[in-house]
Amino acid sequence: MKIYKPEDIEEFLSKEQLRYQKIDLPFGYSTPGHPRGQIKEILFSESIKGRSVLDVGSFLGQMCVAALQNGAERAVGLELNRDRIRQAGVISEILQLSPQPEYRREDIESTRLEEDFDVVLLLNILHHLRDPIGILRTLTKRVKHRLIIEAASLNRRDAKKLKLGSLSRFLFSRSPAVYVGPCHPKDLSQTYFFSERALTDILSKHLMSYWRIDRYPSEFKGRFILDCKKLSIDRMVLVAGCNSSGKSTFCERVRQNEFSGDLGYDDCSDIPFVNPAKLWGKPLNSVFPAQETSECLMHYDLSLVEKFNLHSFERDPATSVIECSKTIDAVLVAPSIETLKHQIYESEIKNKTGDGSQFHREQSERFGEPGYLLNLYGDWLDYLEGLDSSVTLYVFGETPDGRRLTKCKTIEDARKHIRDTYSVEAPV
Ligand SMILES: C[S@@+](CC[C@H](N)C(=O)[O-])C[C@H]1O[C@@H](n2cnc3c(N)ncnc32)[C@H](O)[C@@H]1O
Repeated sequence: MKIYKPEDIEEFLSKEQLRYQKIDLPFGYSTPGHPRGQIKEILFSESIKGRSVLDVGSFLGQMCVAALQNGAERAVGLELNRDRIRQAGVISEILQLSPQPEYRREDIESTRLEEDFDVVLLLNILHHLRDPIGILRTLTKRVKHRLIIEAASLNRRDAKKLKLGSLSRFLFSRSPAVYVGPCHPKDLSQTYFFSERALTDILSKHLMSYWRIDRYPSEFKGRFILDCKKLSIDRMVLVAGCNSSGKSTFCERVRQNEFSGDLGYDDCSDIPFVNPAKLWGKPLNSVFPAQETSECLMHYDLSLVEKFNLHSFERDPATSVIECSKTIDAVLVAPSIETLKHQIYESEIKNKTGDGSQFHREQSERFGEPGYLLNLYGDWLDYLEGLDSSVTLYVFGETPDGRRLTKCKTIEDARKHIRDTYSVEAPV
């Protein structure tokens, strides 16, 4: 690696058009720009030692440099602008960083991001993206610990440029709003602006993976910062079945440690119990005691994706919580069709009126339709098979000796059980 003398650094600074990010160099030199002390303070409020960092839109590499200087194990910067990539490379050489940051000329919107990172930075770039929500979704899957976003809202300067009056600006800032940029030839790079509430709602409600989101007004251009702490669960007992299959009773028995031996747990009486129906609109830290939670029990009603017109488990925000789990013990509660019909009648139809019971009456009829339960449970197994987490499957079904919890050696075992239980001939 070349050793830079003071005159080499001086030459680099005078020849190159550097701006935006102030980076301190040896011999008292620095690049011209903003020091961004606040974002660094937020980033290093937790130790970054040994962590991997991805900076999307890394410019001159200010954050990659700072991360490595503060003990990060790896820093990757994605940047489209060739000059900035080259300049960032020279800066890291001048600084003799070890390890060196990795700068890649990649478009975050077209690259296939296949690695996970502990910390992801998305600073001042969201309003330049063509598919900002898609990128938030991708990064949410890839980040393990923290996603830090600095976002352009409509500050006074932006609003003036966009010819927005103070009332529009006020209404924008108070609502979960997205402002569509004018896409003017003078600046094609500005696409969408999110109000702070809009972005927080997308991250906390639609993406449902962050244990806590801390918000700060930014010192940089009147923007705002969201420090999103990703939930991480070591081990989840995931109890799923169709409506009235007996999930709640099974969960209760898990909490009374009746299945501890089968599932390999010491004590389930105290672990957080998650029912997605009770999660809506609530921050995840109201249910999970810590960002890194060791164990939890989750109840998942397979019938709800249809009731909520989602028609796919991947599209249900609640399944994002499942995806925060490293290891999953997935229990399929799958009683016979006769038992299901009996249970739904006893618990949801008898003595009840109104829309709720209407849904349950329809469900009861659907249970007997050829293919209905087969497809519902089959789709669930496909969903589980596609997860990155390590999944162990169990079936809680009916045997000649009564209801039993059986561990499946392979996913094919579970599929066979579902076929044996729910294959119904179409009436001739
Ligand atoms: C406004 S600057 C912000 C730089 C840096 N994140 C910061 O806050 O100091 C946005 C940077 O993102 C880069 N960029 C824009 N769109 C990008 C994309 N789709 N993929 C990768 N980089 C992109 C731009 O070239 C630019 O350097």
